[in-house]
Amino acid sequence: MKPLKISPSMMCADFIDLKSVLNVFQEKKIDFLHIDIMDGHYVPNFTLGVDFCNALAGYSNIPLDIHLMIENVDAYIPTFRHFPKAMITFHPETVYHPLRTLQLIRQQQQRAGIAIDPAIPVDSIRHLLPYVDMVCMMTVSPGYSGQRLIPEALDKIRELNDYLHRENLDRIDIETDGNVSWENIPLMLEAGANILVSGTSSLFQRGLPLEIGIAKIRKIAEELDKVTVR
Ligand code: DX5
Ligand code: ZN
Repeated sequence: MKPLKISPSMMCADFIDLKSVLNVFQEKKIDFLHIDIMDGHYVPNFTLGVDFCNALAGYSNIPLDIHLMIENVDAYIPTFRHFPKAMITFHPETVYHPLRTLQLIRQQQQRAGIAIDPAIPVDSIRHLLPYVDMVCMMTVSPGYSGQRLIPEALDKIRELNDYLHRENLDRIDIETDGNVSWENIPLMLEAGANILVSGTSSLFQRGLPLEIGIAKIRKIAEELDKVTVR
């Protein structure tokens, strides 16, 4: 079984009170901080940038899970080289030569991920898999928080999980990003995901204390018994 990893979507956090958010994550041994970098071209929105990553990495030692939703990825990989424990994830259709981009990330001694739009078939990424550490399966169209699950994306998680198993590639983590809600978490874990990007649909629900949200996610996962829970 793969370990459950929680990767809170930091664009959904309370920016006025980030220190308290990070203190809770540190104390509860949260696995990653998911940071959405958007350029207004690949997705029609702007969010976080390298200065935000610097601020987080300067305060906590939780590894960054940097999700690049940008064009011209290769030019920006070196911008993120100062985060040694980071996972850098890009959308392969935004580059001409995805294997080269993966190599650039690994040359910086970082972990490399690919993010897959709900409309992109699993088949199209098979040749990249030996060179990646994580696949981020988008369960909404990239660009905004607060959207609804695209149900076909769950079948793709299952298809990828089966394929990884058959090909002895179980070392690769499967992340699910978009509408990771209380109702959807069991379906996502059941399908084979082990990293949950938790945003407005779960951890950052208004009025819910973070500690309670974290415990709730871990409890759901424990009961389902598809991943190991720390
Ligand atoms: C985009 C983001 C969103 C979002 C997740 O890549 O990572 O998917 O913030 O949170 P929800 O969908 O729950 O608002
Ligand atoms: Zn994301």
